[in-house]
Amino acid sequence: MSDITVRPLGEDDWEDYRSVRLAALRESPEAFVASVDEEESYDEDFWRQRMQRSARLVAERDGRAVGVVSVGTATESDGTAGELFGLWVRPEARGSGVATHLVKDGASLAAERGHSHLVYWVGTENGRAVAFASGMGFRPTDYRRPMGVVSEEDGEEEIAMVLPLGADNGPALRL
Ligand SMILES: CC(C)(COP(=O)(O)OP(=O)(O)OC[C@H]1O[C@@H](n2cnc3c(N)ncnc32)[C@H](O)[C@@H]1OP(=O)(O)O)[C@@H](O)C(=O)NCCC(=O)NCCS
Repeated sequence: MSDITVRPLGEDDWEDYRSVRLAALRESPEAFVASVDEEESYDEDFWRQRMQRSARLVAERDGRAVGVVSVGTATESDGTAGELFGLWVRPEARGSGVATHLVKDGASLAAERGHSHLVYWVGTENGRAVAFASGMGFRPTDYRRPMGVVSEEDGEEEIAMVLPLGADNGPALRL
């Protein structure tokens, strides 16, 4: 199988990001809070702003996008925590190391930006994503929040999983 490369996208790559992001929302609606209908309606200005808000990394194999992840600052934190979100791998590329490449590069980027740890909110019922994150060294925490995909009443929750970056893991998680 050919090599996977991970490319950080700049603002002018917004169409590449839009394309893989919409593919993710279309293929895995249950995994994300946003919907494809909502995001398809966004204009170029919105996508350009989005590119600046967080880093967007796309994984490619033979020039084709096979996965994506975003890395930003955790909104609930005092800036020390980076946040990994929007992780998706094309179904035919799963189980082949794409997600590992994306998360490793995302974690390096967060460390370079001075974050001491990386938070990843994942649906408690998303067994594959939880298993993947655990395998990458993310640890479960006590933090939970409603998923909000179908409705508040459906009771689905996300759990915050945390990956320490570098030597100073800190005594406690501050979100
Ligand atoms: C989550 C995701 C990015 C992981 O990528 P992946 O290529 O599937 O990951 P891998 O196959 O390398 O690893 C998944 C782990 O789950 C295990 N697994 C596979 N199928 C599983 C299943 N149905 N339930 C639970 N665990 C499963 C694998 O054995 C592997 O564990 P291991 O590393 O200990 O062997 C990918 O599945 C995906 O894009 N899912 C849809 C979108 C999504 O849910 N994104 C996360 C939103 S928070």
